[in-house]
Amino acid sequence: MTRARPFLSSVVLLAAMCLATPAATLAQGTLNVYCSVQAEWCQGIANEFQRQTGVRVALTLKGSGETLAQVSAEAANPRGDVWFGGTGDPHLAAAEQNLTLAYRSPNLDKLHDWARKQAEQSGFKTVGIYAGALGFGYNPELLQKKKLAAPACWKDLVKPDYKDEIQVANPNSSGTAYTAVATIVQIFGEEEAFRYLRQLHRNVNQYTRSGVGPIKAVARGETSVSISFMHDGVTEAIAGFPVKIQAPCEGTGYEVGSLSIIRGARNLEGARKFVDWALTPQAQKLGADATQFQVPSNREAQLPPQAPRFADIKLINYDFAKYGASAERKRLLERWEKEVNSQPR
Ligand code: F6P
Repeated sequence: MTRARPFLSSVVLLAAMCLATPAATLAQGTLNVYCSVQAEWCQGIANEFQRQTGVRVALTLKGSGETLAQVSAEAANPRGDVWFGGTGDPHLAAAEQNLTLAYRSPNLDKLHDWARKQAEQSGFKTVGIYAGALGFGYNPELLQKKKLAAPACWKDLVKPDYKDEIQVANPNSSGTAYTAVATIVQIFGEEEAFRYLRQLHRNVNQYTRSGVGPIKAVARGETSVSISFMHDGVTEAIAGFPVKIQAPCEGTGYEVGSLSIIRGARNLEGARKFVDWALTPQAQKLGADATQFQVPSNREAQLPPQAPRFADIKLINYDFAKYGASAERKRLLERWEKEVNSQPR
């Protein structure tokens, strides 16, 4: 299987074939899971959930913003049952737009406060399954070759030295990039933030569709620096690539990766079962098994030793209610499109 989600974005994978499945389990039907983490983790949850319950899982892999757009486009005739992972802001926007369904899992009280808060804030239409901090990834070998210093602060990324050296995703399709825009707005204030984003634009060589695209480009030596979730840099470093991560000195935002049941789910019983299961420590361990090192939301789930430690990172008090609201999201994305993306570099 390919490592990067972009190549799989529209591919539907069946977790296993019916041939091997006894007739009794076939009666459990199929669960259509829209999955916004990396492919290996998606496949891991599909295989394991099917093994434990007999429910066949069909996966669609897409980024957070793209999945929100798909769920919205399909609202009159929903095809998905659950949406697993991706940044929390678009899950909150989906909840507000009534695209997802309230469900109070009996496992809610086993979660960290930040994950329960995500549920309470949305009227229980979504719930936190993991958290991850935003930062930079860089390729030290490439930087050395180009005689460039490693970036330590948001302010470093707009220095002329980094012209064409930075990659970040497009915030319309990617939750990672939307988190970056919202983080920069919260740190610098909106006017200053948009001045910053326009300066950054001159140093960006590509806005990728998927949030993990830029760190994979850093790993392959195609770009020196990326704006990425720090755990995604750890995944590449563990795979043997020359990748280092950095938490920005001014502070940084974070995501509450979320899970929602799609309104109109055809397999509602399977969807509820999936949510209960996904909130258990056993299911949450599948992230680390797939070398993905977000912080799990179940208090009893082990924090993978490789996961970036939140205590070591200067985190801002990210305003999920504000930046997860549909109108604010739309407004910021339109402003970014008009004032940043459409500008010459
Ligand atoms: O799977 C890695 C990851 O960084 C998640 O932590 C995050 O929720 C997701 O990707 C965001 O993907 P995108 O930016 O493509 O929406």
